[in-house]
Amino acid sequence: MNRPLIDSFGRVHDYLRISVTDRCNLRCVYCMPPEGMEFEPGYKILTYEEIAEVVRVLAGMGVRKVRLTGGEPLVRKELETLVAMIAAVPGIEDIALTTNGIFLAPKAAKLKAAGLTRVNISLDSLRADRFAFITRGGDVRRVLDSMDTCLQVGLHPIKINVVLMKGINDDEIADFLRLSIERPLQIRFIEYMPIGHQDKGWKASYMPLTAIFDRCREMGWKVIPCHTIRGSGPSENYRIEGAQGSFGLIHPVSDHFCETCNRLRLTADGSIKPCLYWSDEFNVRKSIGNDDAIRELFLKALHLKPQNHEMAKVLDDEKQTHQPTSRRMSQIG
Ligand code: GTP
Ligand code: 5AD
Ligand code: SF4
Repeated sequence: MNRPLIDSFGRVHDYLRISVTDRCNLRCVYCMPPEGMEFEPGYKILTYEEIAEVVRVLAGMGVRKVRLTGGEPLVRKELETLVAMIAAVPGIEDIALTTNGIFLAPKAAKLKAAGLTRVNISLDSLRADRFAFITRGGDVRRVLDSMDTCLQVGLHPIKINVVLMKGINDDEIADFLRLSIERPLQIRFIEYMPIGHQDKGWKASYMPLTAIFDRCREMGWKVIPCHTIRGSGPSENYRIEGAQGSFGLIHPVSDHFCETCNRLRLTADGSIKPCLYWSDEFNVRKSIGNDDAIRELFLKALHLKPQNHEMAKVLDDEKQTHQPTSRRMSQIG
């Protein structure tokens, strides 16, 4: 009998986030330094067969939901092949994708046919010039086109991830909320996290999400709590009265949601990360081909998962109890 994935604090883990590549076609200001990152060499990156093997073993331990992330997952060739391999694993019920949306439109129908259930698209500005600034060169029209295509092919619910940054895109809160009124989208405002970088630039741009409710009040929009969003782990959800869609708040810094954490991570180079924030990692590569060894390594990683992260301490320059990760979000997923 396979042991279930339960950590020292009794949290059941049924969600695996898989980064399929650390490469990305963009370099968002909150995610990468201006000069970009050094990418892992190809030989270190897990193959689709290796990833599917890990998923099969973990499905036997209770994993039901898989999210493919990056970097940008769609820079990897024929991602639909991996989606189909994971969809064929007994026990997997949900296969989602987090993407910047640039390459998504021409791929959406194929991904859906392969078994993808839904997409989360990063979109931090609706203004072409600002979007190009934040992503360092991205074309917002391609992301909007991908959003439309996903709605057409039935890849929904579609969640739009907006990392809110003071002085950079916080004047667009009402525009994003309006999008949730006019279209069946879930707009999720996300606090900017100090992941892999805890510098002054982060502190200057970080803002809590209270401004969202202030803006609703100013606009005269009535906000209703909403409990029916599928797979909404860290997000606190609301709807504006009469809206087609909804909005969500993800506030890992000001108020963590660690007590309900159900996720494990696998990086593109095969490292198991029990928590996004801390540096602990266990590489699974050498265990591939041996189901028991894979199981043991995941249980070991889980056993060392801390109770919570300490992002809020960064704001007060307080000493942390463990070593924070030096990886950026693009290297974790
Ligand atoms: P759903 O399953 O649709 O709810 O997706 P998700 O929110 O798990 O995934 P997504 O990749 O869209 O992540 C959105 C945001 O959630 C990220 O930008 C992070 O801010 C936050 N997030 C995701 N996973 C974690 C985590 O393990 N810890 C913390 N602190 N934040 C996370
Ligand atoms: N803080 C908050 N969100 C981030 N993302 C990447 N880096 C950060 C950060 N430092 C977001 C991306 C994507 C999701 C997976 O994580 O915008 O939507
Ligand atoms: Fe690429 Fe996503 Fe990082 Fe932007 S946030 S640079 S889209 S990995």
